[in-house]
Amino acid sequence: MLVSKDICVLAYSGGLDTSVAIRWLQEDKGVDVVALAVDVGQERQDLELVRTKALSIGAVESIVKDVREEYVEDFLAKALRANALYENKYPLLSALSRPIIVKHLVEEAHRHQARYIAHGCTGKGNDQVRFEVGIAALDPDIEVLAPVREWDLRTREEEMEYAASRGIPVPTTKKSPYSIDDNLWGRAIECGVLEDPWEEPPADIYTLTSDARGDECGSEPEYVELSFEQGVPVALDGEEMTFHEIINAMNELAGKHGFGRIDMVENRLIGVKSREVYEVPGALTLITAHKALEDLCLEREVLHYKLGVEQKWAELVYNGMWFSPLKEALDGFIDTTQQLVTGDVRLRFFKGSCVTVGRRSPYSLYDYSLATYDAEDTFDRGAAKGFIDLWGLPTRVWARQRRKVGKEGEV
Ligand code: ARG
Repeated sequence: MLVSKDICVLAYSGGLDTSVAIRWLQEDKGVDVVALAVDVGQERQDLELVRTKALSIGAVESIVKDVREEYVEDFLAKALRANALYENKYPLLSALSRPIIVKHLVEEAHRHQARYIAHGCTGKGNDQVRFEVGIAALDPDIEVLAPVREWDLRTREEEMEYAASRGIPVPTTKKSPYSIDDNLWGRAIECGVLEDPWEEPPADIYTLTSDARGDECGSEPEYVELSFEQGVPVALDGEEMTFHEIINAMNELAGKHGFGRIDMVENRLIGVKSREVYEVPGALTLITAHKALEDLCLEREVLHYKLGVEQKWAELVYNGMWFSPLKEALDGFIDTTQQLVTGDVRLRFFKGSCVTVGRRSPYSLYDYSLATYDAEDTFDRGAAKGFIDLWGLPTRVWARQRRKVGKEGEV
C-alpha cells in the first residue's frame, strides 16, 4: 500500500536558502513540498521563473500569488492610519509583509491538508517570530519547520556545495554582501559593512532614492497635493487614484528628490541591537502628510491619546502580533479616529526633504477667529485670567509650602 507523505507548504522566495530548503525538507523531513511565492511588490523579479524553479528542484506544486491589492487595502492602509513607525523611525515594511504571507501560507496549508508550514528565516531575526506566532494565531495546530535554523550548513559555501551536489541551481553572480527585503512600503538593507554602526552606508546600496547631494535631485523644489478620505489617500494633485497607485507615484517622486532614507540602530525582539538602513520614500511621505491632516482634524485629547496608541500598535506589529486581540482592539480605536480625517495636504520636496506647506479640510478644527491676533479675534482673553489662576493653583500652593520650610525656589 502506498503511504502518502505529509505535506509542507514552504514560503518560497526563489533565493538560495529556500531553494535548498525544498530539497532538505524532502530528504531530512520526508515531506512533499508545496512552494508558495507571494508577490507583495518586491522589485520586479520574474515570478514565473521563481515558480518553475521550485518545481525543477522537486516541489510537488508551486504557486505564485499576487496579493498586492490586499496588502495595500488591508495592511498598508492600517499602517498609514496608525502612522506606524517602530521606535519612532522605521515604517515596518518587513513586519507588515510577514502577516499577509502567513495568511496565504495557512490558506494553502488548509487547501492541501498540509501538516507543516516552513519558512527560510534565520534564528536571529524578527521574521521567524512573525511567521511562527502568526501561523499559531491562524491555526494553532499547524507545525512549523524552520530549515535554515535547523540545518547544519554553517556557511554559504557549505550551502552552495549542498546545492551543487544535488543539481539545485546556485547563483552565478557574486552574492551581494547585503541582506535585502523589499515590498511596496520600501526596502530594508542590512549586513556587510553596515554591521559597523560607525561606517557611513556606501552610496551603492540605494535603489529607490537618489543622493540628495547629487544632480538627479534637481535644483528646483516640487510641490504635490495629496487628498485623503477617512485617513487614506484618494487623489494626487486633484486626480483620483487608488492608494496603490499613489504609493507607487510617491515612491517615485520622493525617491527622485532623495527623501526617505533612514539609517538607524534598532532593537530586535530577540534582544539584539542591529544597524538597519531603509529606503521608504513613499511610506514616509504618506505618513508625513497623514499626520499633518490629523493635526487639523483630530480633537486635542484624541490626537494626544492616539500618539501612545500608535507607538503600541507599531511595537505589536514589529513583535509579530499582527493577529492578536490587542492589535485588533487598537485597530478599532484608530478606525474611530479616522472618520473625519478627510482633506488635502500640500507638500514640497527639495534636495532630500519633504515638508508640509499647507493643509485644509471640511472637518478642520482650526478656527481662524480663535487663532488670529487680528481684529476678527473672538477669543475671550478675560477667561484666560481665571483659567490660569486655577490651572496654576496647585503650583502656587506648593511654592508657598516650600517657602514655609525655607526651600524657596528649589525644585
Ligand atoms: N529589521 C527589520 C525588521 O525586522 C527588517 C528586516 C529585513 N529582513 C531581511 N531579511 N533583510 O522588520
